[in-house]
Amino acid sequence: MQALPGFRDFLPDDCAVRNYIFARWREVARRHAFIEWDGPVLESTELYKKKSGAEIVDQLFNFSDKGEREVAMRPELTPTLARVVAAHEREFKKPLKWFSIGQFFRYEKQQRGRLREHFQLNCDIIGEAGIAADIELVALCIDILRAFGFTEKDFVVRISDRDFWTDFLRERDVPADRWDELLQAIDKSGREPREKTAEKLGKLADPIFSILKTGGKSSKLDQLVDGLRERGLADYMAIDVGIVRGLAYYTGIVFEVFDRGGKLRAIAGGGRYDNLIAQLSDGAVSMPALGFAMGDVVLGELVNETAYAREKLEKAIANERKIDIYVVIAKEQRRADALAQIQQFRDHGYRVDYPLTGEKVGKQFQTAEQLGAPVAVLFGDEWPQIKVKNMATGHQELVPHDRLLAYLQALSSLSS
Ligand code: HAM
Repeated sequence: MQALPGFRDFLPDDCAVRNYIFARWREVARRHAFIEWDGPVLESTELYKKKSGAEIVDQLFNFSDKGEREVAMRPELTPTLARVVAAHEREFKKPLKWFSIGQFFRYEKQQRGRLREHFQLNCDIIGEAGIAADIELVALCIDILRAFGFTEKDFVVRISDRDFWTDFLRERDVPADRWDELLQAIDKSGREPREKTAEKLGKLADPIFSILKTGGKSSKLDQLVDGLRERGLADYMAIDVGIVRGLAYYTGIVFEVFDRGGKLRAIAGGGRYDNLIAQLSDGAVSMPALGFAMGDVVLGELVNETAYAREKLEKAIANERKIDIYVVIAKEQRRADALAQIQQFRDHGYRVDYPLTGEKVGKQFQTAEQLGAPVAVLFGDEWPQIKVKNMATGHQELVPHDRLLAYLQALSSLSS
């Protein structure tokens, strides 16, 4: 029996990587004063049909539940966020700065960087229409990636403005009901053969290709660049009007993050969705909003391919894994005394391990080393004295058992 295609088993090493990613996400989101929330993994299919756009609806894991409700595993968080905010808006002071870490499901063709489940960090700001919020959000996205050890040489945030394109279409009298389809064609233009895009764009193909080549401009984008420059983050971004985003609800500034090498799929993506909350609440609540999500799959690949980011991860994992004290039981008669001591150590917050059954002393010291314990304490013939071994230097000392905890607490190599 194997896991389903596109679903991962998380063996301990994979879990360690996942925890490391979540820890960095949480740490930087908190540094930017975002607070954590979450929604359900199962939602009414209608929620996504209403607003996410055709591409995501095609990829839903959906079914009828036993109560004959049409339900779907969440493919993204934004519609849930809009639903929750519309329902609880009065309970919170605006703007809301919320983040969430959770698992999402999309029935996509499995390929490099794309699975059928993945984890996302979502960061959203609700209730602020000004460009300061867009700048803050992009800065947060950059800071999160910097926390993994990446520099401006490793990734770039490509930023665009959907209004730039909707203004363009309006000026050319393109009816609004065609905008979505044309925006999707522009969004896909970098990934599709030129002829295919040209066919979709019709008579607009030439002017659109020319803008994509020369680059577009808008005063909003200029302000964004200035804001990031003031924070010393301008080298991490580039204006790229070819970014439009596949999801249907975006309204203004949109962005995607890519590796500089251009080998991987997008690491993160997001933007403004000022109308979504009003649309989902049938106009009951109207609030500007913006946010982004970063996935764990592509991010994990980039960490793996970037030597210093990988070293940072390996160091953090080794540190997280290691125990503080290994208790060697050299004489089985001392097992009860050792267990009482182990309980006391653990109550004081130390990470402690010992052999569950009798084992040769040499083997126990070997285990102590493998587990990264800075000290091993030996319960044996020396009782009521305990032999304490510094595993790095090999230095040994005898300490009376009733002074053992105080002795270890004074050691700088033990953290707790
Ligand atoms: P998205 O661009 O669909 O945006 O997804 C965000 C990120 O999730 C992607 O850049 C990618 O890293 C990761 N991701 C998406 N699908 C998969 C997959 N099948 N396998 C692995 N990773 C994947 C959204 O989901 C928006 N709701 C983001 C947002 C939040 N907009 C505003 N607030």
